[in-house]
Amino acid sequence: MKNKVALITGITGQDGSYLAEFLLAKDYIVHGIIRRSSSFNTDRIDHLIADSKIMNNSLFLHYGDMTDGSRLVTLIKKIQPDEIYNLAAQSHVRVSFDEPEYTGDSVGIGTARLLEAVRIADVETRFYQASSSEMFGATPPPQSEETAFYPRSPYGAAKLYSYWMTRNYREAYGLFACNGILFNHESERRGETFVTRKIAIAAARIASGVQKDIYLGNLEAIRDWGYAPEYVEGMWMMLQHQKPDDYVLATNTGYTVRELAQFAFETVGLNYVDYVKKDERYVRPTEVDALIGDYSKAKRVLGWSPKTLTPELATKMVNFEMAKLKN
Ligand code: NAP
Ligand code: GDD
Repeated sequence: MKNKVALITGITGQDGSYLAEFLLAKDYIVHGIIRRSSSFNTDRIDHLIADSKIMNNSLFLHYGDMTDGSRLVTLIKKIQPDEIYNLAAQSHVRVSFDEPEYTGDSVGIGTARLLEAVRIADVETRFYQASSSEMFGATPPPQSEETAFYPRSPYGAAKLYSYWMTRNYREAYGLFACNGILFNHESERRGETFVTRKIAIAAARIASGVQKDIYLGNLEAIRDWGYAPEYVEGMWMMLQHQKPDDYVLATNTGYTVRELAQFAFETVGLNYVDYVKKDERYVRPTEVDALIGDYSKAKRVLGWSPKTLTPELATKMVNFEMAKLKN
């Protein structure tokens, strides 16, 4: 049987790297779009690139950018993917307040460019859009597929545009297109400026005596933090179903940033109160106070459930940083 072909935008990111591993293990031919950079930006997939059995055999990388529509058309025509996972994004909410125009261009219009590239290239493909719980913004939890959207950042607004464009291409052109509305998911590969990884690194460094304290913004925000490798499997499950639809993936549990810090510091036998300091620079002009996802539709229709909950996730991430410091 012919191997399935997948195209991943954002393959160098946290989710892209796990998804590439997941699809390669399922015998997919995986193509990824990477950005030209003046320094190395492929650390999360370097182990795949270094493997000569994989690189240029079942994994192929192509330069491209979500702001370059003609390149997206060329790549889709050439690759003829069975499945496209659109994970590329300027994904940092705080940064989106500083760069609203670029965020809108890459996250919002970028998705329109990719959808239009599918149409122009006239390929038969399934399309996954990385939608976000940030789209719910100010609407109180629990949030499900039926909850009203109220984004609170340029990032959330751009993701909402992408969400609707994905639905529109499904309804207007019959494209097999799904929105995965994913709540926060973290891992040892999470970018270092997101709060879970920032706290995990700090707890390990403070316990090892190489850092004194950590500066954070709002400690009272509630998030629903799950484990990223489990979420990429959910993305794939959406595209295997007989019918395209939109699904929430979450853990249905909520903790404050303060509780997250408590779990992380407890892992190394410390009390977070002694080390966490406030810095207004990390406070957002508008905050999303509480996100807790109701994933019952994904469970019922796809058979997807999370396994790792926030306290265990925090411990896992801190232990990883401790092990790295010891090496
Ligand atoms: P991430 O680690 O920040 O990765 C983002 C990826 O997008 C990187 O590969 C990055 O490339 C690439 N990228 C950024 N701008 C681009 C552009 N203009 N053109 C092409 N590629 C570009 O994000 P993640 O955590 O893996 O999240 C994956 C997707 O899910 C994102 O769309 C994010 O917004 C969305 N999402 C994430 C979560 C979460 O909790 N993680 C929840 C809901 C939705 P470089 O490596 O070169 O920077
Ligand atoms: N990053 C960061 N840094 N966040 C902090 C800090 C800090 O020093 N101090 C407090 N926070 C709070 C933020 O205000 C927010 O309420 C919460 O910690 C989580 O922040 P992030 O880890 O930056 O994630 P996010 O929830 O804003 O966005 C992530 O999840 C979204 C899904 O809900 C990103 O991955 C988005 O791309 C994703 O769509």
